[in-house]
Formats: sequence, C-alpha cells, structure tokens
Amino acid sequence: MIQFIKNAWYVAGFTREFDEQLRRFTILDEHIVMFRRSDGQIAALDGRCPHRLLPLSKGKRIGDTVQCGYHGLTFDCSGKCTRVPGQDNLPASAYVHAYPTHSRHGITWVWMGDVDKADPGQIFDLPEFAEDKEILEAVQEEEARPQKRRPIRIAIDKAPLVYRKRINDLLELERTEDLASDPSPAFVYHD
Ligand code: FES
Repeated sequence: MIQFIKNAWYVAGFTREFDEQLRRFTILDEHIVMFRRSDGQIAALDGRCPHRLLPLSKGKRIGDTVQCGYHGLTFDCSGKCTRVPGQDNLPASAYVHAYPTHSRHGITWVWMGDVDKADPGQIFDLPEFAEDKEILEAVQEEEARPQKRRPIRIAIDKAPLVYRKRINDLLELERTEDLASDPSPAFVYHD
C-alpha cells in the first residue's frame, strides 16, 4: 500500500497556467478541481460532488462558484454549498473540502493535510546548488568510467538519509493519528 505524507505542500503546476477553466488534478491519489478566482488566487476543491460523485471538473464555473454538471449543486471557493436545486435548505453535509493553496517561485502549491496546519512558511526556498540535468549526466558519465579511488563522502551526503528518516517519521506519525480517528460511514443521507 502506498503511503503519503498528508501534512505537506505539493506542487500542482506553474501559477501562470491556471485560468478560469476548471481543471482536474490528481495529488496523493485524490482528485482536485482547480481554477483561478476572480481575485487572482487559485482555488482548489475536492474534485467529486458529494451527491453522486460526478467530477466537479465536468461542471460549470459561475463567477467564483462551481456548479455540478449533474444535478446542479453549487459550491463556493471555501467548499460551502450555496445552492441545491429543488429545495431551500442546504444540508450540512453538502460541502466539499477546500484545499489551501499558495503561490511561490511561480509555482502553485496545494496543502493536502489538516487545514489548520497549513503554513506557507514551510514551502522550501529554491536550493542554492541545483542538480540540473547537465550536471547529473556528466557525473553519471564519470561514474561509468574506471576509477582509481573511491569518491570521498562529506557531510551533505548524509542529507538523503536524514530526509528519508524524516519522511518515515512523519508517515508513522500520521498513520498513528489516523488509527485514533473514527471510521467514516460510506453514505450520509439527507432529505
Ligand atoms: S452529482 Fe452533483 S449534484 Fe448530483
């Protein structure tokens, strides 16, 4: 089973690529519908309508709301339902999750975990030494040649191991938190 760290920022795409169109993205195996709001911010909502699960990307953009393409439930950028055709009351369960987003370095990031923990300050700065394709290919070429001595190791070479351990610790933390929460019922009925 693939495990993901939820409480982290994930890249959705280049910020310049977002416009008013509804676009579907898959991040951590979750479908998300994203679009640029009228104020220029990027909205990200759960990609499935909570009624009959039609992908909201197949719906219609009306101002800063998304209208489901099946029966017309409409959601604003906070995920709140603003309209249910055929009835006046808005059921409490008629909402979709709204993912926090943040644009930095020309990239739009999506927070996939607890909304309360979303901190744009966690988005890393661009590394000082970028390992670009040209460098990696040159290193690979030299590694394939006979060598008289073994490459030396310095402190920064520990970074991947330290990072891997940190990821494993975070996965374990989120896994044990999940076990403590109640299972969700498959369906919630509302008149
Ligand atoms: S499936 Fe979206 S309103 Fe029915």
